[in-house]
Amino acid sequence: MITVKNLSKTYGSFRAVDDVSFTCRPGAVTGFLGPNGAGKSTTMRIIAGLTLPDAGEAHVSGVRYSDVPNPGTQIGVLLDASAQHAGRSGREILTIGALTMGLPMSRVDEMLELVSLTPEESKRKVRNYSLGMRQRLGIAHALLGDPKILMLDEPANGLDPAGIHWMRSLLREYANRGGTVLLSSHLLHEVQIIADELIVIGNGKIVAQGTKDELLASAGTFVRATDPSALASALTSAGISATPSGEGGLRTDATPEQVGAAALQGQVALVELRAAEGAGLEELFLELTASTQREAVTPEGANA
Ligand SMILES: Nc1ncnc2c1ncn2[C@@H]1O[C@H](COP(=O)(O)OP(=O)(O)O)[C@@H](O)[C@H]1O
Ligand SMILES: [Mg+2]
Repeated sequence: MITVKNLSKTYGSFRAVDDVSFTCRPGAVTGFLGPNGAGKSTTMRIIAGLTLPDAGEAHVSGVRYSDVPNPGTQIGVLLDASAQHAGRSGREILTIGALTMGLPMSRVDEMLELVSLTPEESKRKVRNYSLGMRQRLGIAHALLGDPKILMLDEPANGLDPAGIHWMRSLLREYANRGGTVLLSSHLLHEVQIIADELIVIGNGKIVAQGTKDELLASAGTFVRATDPSALASALTSAGISATPSGEGGLRTDATPEQVGAAALQGQVALVELRAAEGAGLEELFLELTASTQREAVTPEGANA
């Protein structure tokens, strides 16, 4: 369990994290979603005890990270896959981790195998690793101490499609076994696929949180026809009001059944008819992204 209560962090006069509260429960993947510069990494650094908050508190299994005995065996953390000693090999980094945590050396080979780093790759220096390989090594490092909690900051960055698929299955199985997962992303689609719970952050503030099902709850119907004006008048005749949607179709609050019946009545051939799932979340996220896009690019924001 990760518990964050009324967390705030200010840099000079800039509020990077503003009164953030949430909980991540065991058995679920919690997606921490927000555009670049929203405050995700800062929040995670505070949870990991690397940044001190100005107000509020963050607890891991009920205590502050700094008070967790042998933390690597309780919470696996991957904040920045490139923050490893570049002159060491992947195997050396895992070996040092295992020694620090007092683990058997057999864990090193188990983890290398789990993340599919070959024996040859594991002997290469990390400076010669691709970002995807660094992410795999970082995930191996986070899982080394067999922790019950995982916290990963943008773990999908740099992974190829097969790697992303692999990571999703890994995290899903981990959560299904009762693990707690907090993972951040700046891509809605990315977290939408994997998360059970979502926390959406923008400009340091939580703007939405809940289960994925709640947040993606059906938001009416999306419909598209080859003849949009015929479709619009068919809907109007049936007393259904609709608004143009970005994808070249129409959105309405009516059900797909009602829209289909109206189209049949007006003899309009449809090319698409479906529940407009998650449109609310997508719009919210686009608004957040657009509003942060206008701000100056910060060093962190550039590769966050
Ligand atoms: N050490 C720091 N000094 C000044 N500003 C910082 C520092 N760390 C983060 N920030 C700023 O706080 C904001 C949130 O950053 P961050 O938590 O990295 O966002 P995210 O991970 O969501 O992209 C950004 O505008 C960033 O530039
Ligand atoms: Mg970040």
